[in-house]
Formats: sequence, structure tokens, C-alpha cells
Amino acid sequence: MNSRISERIRYVGVNDLKKSLFEGMWPLPFGVSYNSYLVIDDKVALIDTAEAGYAAEYMENIRRELGERKVDYLVVNHMEPDHSSLMSMIREAYPEARIVGNAKTVPMIKGYYGICENLHIVKEGDSISLGNSTLTFHMTPMVHWPETMMTYFHEEKTLFSGDAFGTFGALADGITDAGARLYGCSDAAADTFEAFNGEMLRYYSNIVGKYGQTVQAAMKKLAGLEISRICSTHGPVWEKNIAEVVSCYDRLSRYEGEKGVCIVYASMYGNTEKAAMSLAAELEKRGVRYAVHNLCTENVSYAYRDAFRYDTLAVGAPTYNNDIFPPAFSFMYGVSARLMKNRAFAAFGSFTWAGASVKLLNEMASKLGFDLISEGLSFPQAFTPEKCDMAALADTIASQVTE
Ligand code: FEO
Repeated sequence: MNSRISERIRYVGVNDLKKSLFEGMWPLPFGVSYNSYLVIDDKVALIDTAEAGYAAEYMENIRRELGERKVDYLVVNHMEPDHSSLMSMIREAYPEARIVGNAKTVPMIKGYYGICENLHIVKEGDSISLGNSTLTFHMTPMVHWPETMMTYFHEEKTLFSGDAFGTFGALADGITDAGARLYGCSDAAADTFEAFNGEMLRYYSNIVGKYGQTVQAAMKKLAGLEISRICSTHGPVWEKNIAEVVSCYDRLSRYEGEKGVCIVYASMYGNTEKAAMSLAAELEKRGVRYAVHNLCTENVSYAYRDAFRYDTLAVGAPTYNNDIFPPAFSFMYGVSARLMKNRAFAAFGSFTWAGASVKLLNEMASKLGFDLISEGLSFPQAFTPEKCDMAALADTIASQVTE
């Protein structure tokens, strides 16, 4: 893979094709990349590092670009270990390199790696010069941790954005959106943004989803910068598709969904599942877009992706121990934890002798300010269309989503 992004910027990141679950939770069917960059001028800056399991490959990438030259600065935009784990190795390889971070980075560097010396602490708007290249630092707390900052390479209008604008999915055939392909995806779209879009939605909703407000604050702060290239820590470097990527992050961080329905359900003996499938069939008849996720058989990652994608959320759960069946409760807990807003909501589910789940799901949705478009469809024992009128719910949804 060609590592050259520009005369002065080189890609030295790695693809992770071994890990099955990111953060121990989120599936990686197409892998993930840990992006790291060199800015090479009279002095050399390394922007972030990579995950610990890739030390040899990462060091080889750096040596290939620099030969005998040294790293003068290691810029730490983000301390999460997928980007900082190789900091100690870089300190050992280039002991004179100054580690650049902000006041919130410093205790994390000490706590994770025991490094206390040769640190260069920056604050909003500070710069370092590499010769003819200027790097300016912008504090963007909680995108995704409190110490997160972004680095702007003034002369090349390049934003090193940390996790922001990142995606799951390893890189194949290129690094930039001029040709990068989603690794291992046989039906890859010709357009890089299209190819990575599902993995971007999943990355945002799974990892960054809670931080909509701070993503919005960061976007406002950076609005004055002229940006012709975004170098994130995961996924392609964006050059062609900057408008699409920024618009996608803007929409997601405002919790604005597309017209459509995310149906999420959990079922013990198939009755709530039949209700979910009945709703899907009725939506299909009305030409309403939808996605269906079974929480008992698939990772919740995909349900969060489509809960962020669509403006309507329908959640099905039977009553269990006079409560919400736990997989659905856990999903709704995650929706709450992500501070989701702006959703139309409907609950459904079966019970045997006393129904509680629909009422409790409605309560959780109400606390989030969701618009309850149905009082909920709670039905005893076996599913029948007479007991659980999904046609009527689909009519209500269709009248809203097709407005
Ligand atoms: Fe990719 Fe928040 O680390």
C-alpha cells in the first residue's frame, strides 16, 4: 500500500485483522485500522501511535519512511490505548522526541506508561513549527475522551482529527478516499464513502454515540478552519468526501435520523418475534424502510447502528420476572447511555399472566423525550394479528415517515 499522502505526510498505521471484538464488545467483520502519520520537514512529527499487538510492523513502517532520521515530536491527540500503546516503544526508539499533549493528557501518560519527562504541554491554539510546516492544536474534549485534541497542519490544510470522522473497517488498496477499499468486502462499492458508510455509522453509534453534544461543540470550533484533508485515527483519509463525512457526523451528533424504522426485539419462545416480523411485513407493504435486529442472536452493535440511522425505533420484549426481558433492557440502557434524542417510539411484547415490559419500555423512552406514537402493543400468550395489530401501528408509522 502506498504510504504517501502528500510530500510531507506519510501513513505509518496498521490494519488489525486479528481482533474479533473492538473494546471487547463490537464485532470487526472487516477489521479496523489504527492510523498514524508522519509529518516530515526539517523536524519530524509522529501523530499518534497504534495498538500494542502491531509493534514490529508499526516500527518497520516508521523506519521505512525515515531511515536514519529521528522523530522530534510525538503528538498525542488521544490516549485510548488503541492509539497510545506504542508510546513507550517510540520513547525507547527516539528518546529525544518530545511528547506533545495537553494538561489532561499528562496524568494519563504517566498512569498508563510511567512517562513523566520530556513532555511538551500545549493548550488551545498553541503551535509547533517543523520548519516550513506548522502544527496547531485544538482542544476537543470528549471526542472521545477528556484529553482528546486535534492537530491542524496549516500549510496543507490537513486536520488530524483523532477518532472523529473515523470508521471501523481495515484499509485495502489505498489509504485515501481516492481508492481505499473496505478490507475483505467482496461487494465493495466503487465509492469509498459508500463502501465505508455502514462501518462509519456503526463506529459512531457504538463508540462516540454518547458524545453528540461535544462533537457538535468541536465541529463549531473547527468551522473556521479551511480543511482539504481529514486524517482520522480509523479508516480512510478523507479528501474527496469531506463534505459527506462532515455532514454525516453533523447529522449523527444532532441525533437526526433518516426516515425509516429500526425494529429491535428479543424473544424467548417466538411470540414477540412474530410480532416484530408482522411489523416488518406491514411496513414493507407500505414502502417504509426498516431494519430488523434480533438481540438474542446478533451483537447489539448493529441495532445501535440502525437506531442512529433511522428516526423511528420499535422495540419488542416479552415480560420477564415482571420486568423487561434482559436483552431488550440492556439495549434500551445503551440507548439511554448514548443520550439518544429525536426518535418516534413504539413498544410491543408478549406476556403470559401479567404484562409489564411494554409499560416499562415506554417509561424508558419517555425519559429520553421520545415521541410515543403508540400506547404500546402488549399481548397475552401467543401472537395473533387480532391481539397485536401491527397493521395499525404500521399505518401510524407510514403516515409519519412519509410526511
Ligand atoms: Fe480509537 Fe477512542 O480510540
